[in-house]
Amino acid sequence: MQALLSRLSFWRPKTDTPLPTIELQGERVLLRPVELRDAEDMFAFVADPKVVHFLPWQPAREVRGVQAFLEQQRGRRRSGESLAFAVIWKETGKVIGSTDIMQLLARDKHVELGYILAQECWGKGIMTEAAALSRDYVFQELKRVKLVAFADQENIGSRRVLEKIGMQEVGTEWRTVKELTRLYVRYELTREDWEKLVH
Ligand SMILES: CC(C)(COP(=O)(O)OP(=O)(O)OC[C@H]1O[C@@H](n2cnc3c(N)ncnc32)[C@H](O)[C@@H]1OP(=O)(O)O)[C@@H](O)C(=O)NCCC(=O)NCCS
Repeated sequence: MQALLSRLSFWRPKTDTPLPTIELQGERVLLRPVELRDAEDMFAFVADPKVVHFLPWQPAREVRGVQAFLEQQRGRRRSGESLAFAVIWKETGKVIGSTDIMQLLARDKHVELGYILAQECWGKGIMTEAAALSRDYVFQELKRVKLVAFADQENIGSRRVLEKIGMQEVGTEWRTVKELTRLYVRYELTREDWEKLVH
């Protein structure tokens, strides 16, 4: 029995195996997959009603809720469903935002980009830099054929970020967000157009 227990003590559930490190280096920001220890930094901006105004969530109320969300994102990375990056301000090492590459299991090989940034960092070109790094990762490393993104029609900042990273407006659709019917603009970038953009 003792021998069995000591052997079992080496057993770890599969979910404990470390996930590979990825680092996307920008001029001012560094992107790496989100980790549970990011909860404190992230809470500071996901609790801000202005930051989540256009997103389908209510402002976070406690760090524990953010930890649970990060656990879910970790699970989604492990299952290959999505890949969420922490956006780190290099100067301070602080997590100031996040980008999320979603729909990775979709059969048509189109993936979707989403993002969020702390309010004190808005308007400095930071998300344009982080979104461009995520876009390049989708085509260079994940070898996908198309990137799609959606922004509320009134979310001018988000729409500008998508335009600035080369995405084209292709249509609109109605969505229900926080019990309100909102018009969303769909943007796309094909691998072909990405190649022209970066070469
Ligand atoms: C949308 C968001 C990511 C923009 O990030 P950002 O780092 O401030 O954007 P950038 O500084 O890279 O700006 C890109 C462009 O948008 C413009 N812009 C940014 N915020 C704007 C705003 N609120 N109103 C009008 N223009 C805005 C900038 O002036 C810039 O355009 P320019 O170069 O032509 O001047 C950020 O405001 C945010 O996190 N918002 C809350 C979450 C959210 O809405 N996420 C997107 C869901 S689809």
